[in-house]
Amino acid sequence: MTTENQTKLFHDSLKRCQDTPLFFEKFYARFLSQSVEIQRKFEGVDMARQIRMLKASLNMVMLASQPGIDPEFYLGSVAKRHSSGDLDIAPPLYDLWLNALMQTVEEMDPKFSKEVHQAWLGIMSTGIQYMRCCY
Ligand code: HEM
Repeated sequence: MTTENQTKLFHDSLKRCQDTPLFFEKFYARFLSQSVEIQRKFEGVDMARQIRMLKASLNMVMLASQPGIDPEFYLGSVAKRHSSGDLDIAPPLYDLWLNALMQTVEEMDPKFSKEVHQAWLGIMSTGIQYMRCCY
């Protein structure tokens, strides 16, 4: 279960990352370099818009991870969009997504620590588990 301390560590780290120029560009460059399947999914996608969407949705993932919250409330439409009937994002792709994100946080957050790492994993795993379930 996500604790208040984890949420604060995640929130503050996310803010530092968002304040670092090119954080999201670096994340997508890393993520796309991992497989041709991922590159195909993003063919023709407006990446400036995609970055704005991802920025907003990381806060939704944080809200969805709070104790007593049904993740559907915050992530229902995002999960439906990624499901087999729409973007068709297969569950294993979320491991690559999370790895690329964590490597980018480690590289870009000047206050990165073991605790910050654990906080990101804790918050993200609730959202990812929910997204995978909706596939
Ligand atoms: C928890 C993890 C993820 C979150 C929070 C997330 C969030 C989002 C959001 C908010 C959008 C915009 C949706 C819209 O325009 O309606 C989006 C689009 C998209 N996402 Fe994800 N995503 C995640 C994981 C992934 C993964 C693993 C992939 C694998 C390739 C992926 C591929 C895409 C693609 C291809 C689009 C569509 C871009 C477009 O056509 O405009 N996402 N994502």
